[in-house]
Amino acid sequence: MPVTVVIGSQWGDEGKGKIVDLLSAQVDIVARYQGGANAGHTICIGDETHVLHLVPSGIFHEGTQCVIGNGVVIDPVALMEEIRMIRKLGIDVAGRLFISHNAHLIMPYHKRIEEVRERARDAGAIGTTGRGIGPAYVDKFARTGIRVVDLLDRDVLRKKLRLNIEEKNAILREVYKEEELDVEAIVEEYVEFDKLIDPFVTDTTALLGEALADGKEILAEGAQGSLLDVDFGTYPFVTSSHPTAGGACTGLGIPPTAINRIIAIVKAYTTRVGNGPFPTELDDEVGQHLRDIGHEYGATTGRPRRCGWLDLVALNYTSRINGFTELAITKLDVMSGLDQVRAATRYEVEGGKVTTRFPSHLEGLKKASPLYETLPGWSENLTQVETLDGLPEAARSYLDFVSKNLNVPISYVSTGPKRSQTIAVDGVAA
Ligand code: IMP
Repeated sequence: MPVTVVIGSQWGDEGKGKIVDLLSAQVDIVARYQGGANAGHTICIGDETHVLHLVPSGIFHEGTQCVIGNGVVIDPVALMEEIRMIRKLGIDVAGRLFISHNAHLIMPYHKRIEEVRERARDAGAIGTTGRGIGPAYVDKFARTGIRVVDLLDRDVLRKKLRLNIEEKNAILREVYKEEELDVEAIVEEYVEFDKLIDPFVTDTTALLGEALADGKEILAEGAQGSLLDVDFGTYPFVTSSHPTAGGACTGLGIPPTAINRIIAIVKAYTTRVGNGPFPTELDDEVGQHLRDIGHEYGATTGRPRRCGWLDLVALNYTSRINGFTELAITKLDVMSGLDQVRAATRYEVEGGKVTTRFPSHLEGLKKASPLYETLPGWSENLTQVETLDGLPEAARSYLDFVSKNLNVPISYVSTGPKRSQTIAVDGVAA
């Protein structure tokens, strides 16, 4: 069966964009299944860097079709801007980009509600990307959301928008004592999207189902990371969707039985943006090394990322949830120059108990102290290395250690941002 799912195994920013970009050349369709413009996928083509927030990076490969699935929340303003940017690069999106008519929309009131709610939470703020993701998913599940298909019928859109904005205005006024939104200005702005978005809108579940029946290859692209999953992540410091493997089925309308490869993107160390517990976080010169050398600043918000050692307790947990069949280890080059490298293999939890099990609730995780295995570091620059054998012995040992601990084979090792800086392990197409 021909569906490959690419999943962030940590807290996002693992470098999925590059691996998706690489694999896009080998598939017929790349389909994004959850999240919204909170994601930022950085792709380096030649000397140029592009950041995509909504459109799958497969758009850079002529002949590859791209789908934005029903599980994604779409900010039409951000989407249209992105399409304009892609067209400016001389890339034709017509007939190649398909947007689910059932995907929900992010509206200005979602961003506004998120902003005032985060401010009111103060020290307890989630540290969101401020893109209105959470409130848009709230409306989806409250069954008051506005979907892409509603943009195509001005009367329906007007009615739904008015109802929504009146409700949000009551919340802004009564709960947060904030200024209200201008209903008519928003209605007028959004009814204009109908013609712009119309050429891309389709029943994407039918499109994907027919593609599967024709034996086509589909790459399902997740955004964020497994530890940000609303069910399995470090709740409440999570995003509001399912970046994990199950999300690919519900976010695209494909059956679980169609999936045969689940590739975990694993950064060689760990990072996190936003608030919430992070047991292996390093507040020292090693953390700063990783941030500086790895350019660990958010692609969407520019925020400095929190950095730390690899956490195999967390990774064994996300492997169990997702059923990883392969690993793609990214940013190994960033770890050059450290005398020793470490990876947490166990946690000491409340009461002094030592465990390999990732705590299932926040308070338990906050109290967990990581216990590390220490391995020799390496000083060599890895950015030009083209084969596994070309890596220094210490780097190979580190990779072996990770793969054995997770009991999942490694397919790719990334040693720099460019497409060419990828080692495909024997037998895997690069
Ligand atoms: P939201 O997705 O904007 O609601 O943010 C919720 C949490 O997910 C925050 O901690 C964000 O920093 C984090 N987050 C959202 N998108 C990404 C991403 O693409 N990479 C890493 N973290 C993210």
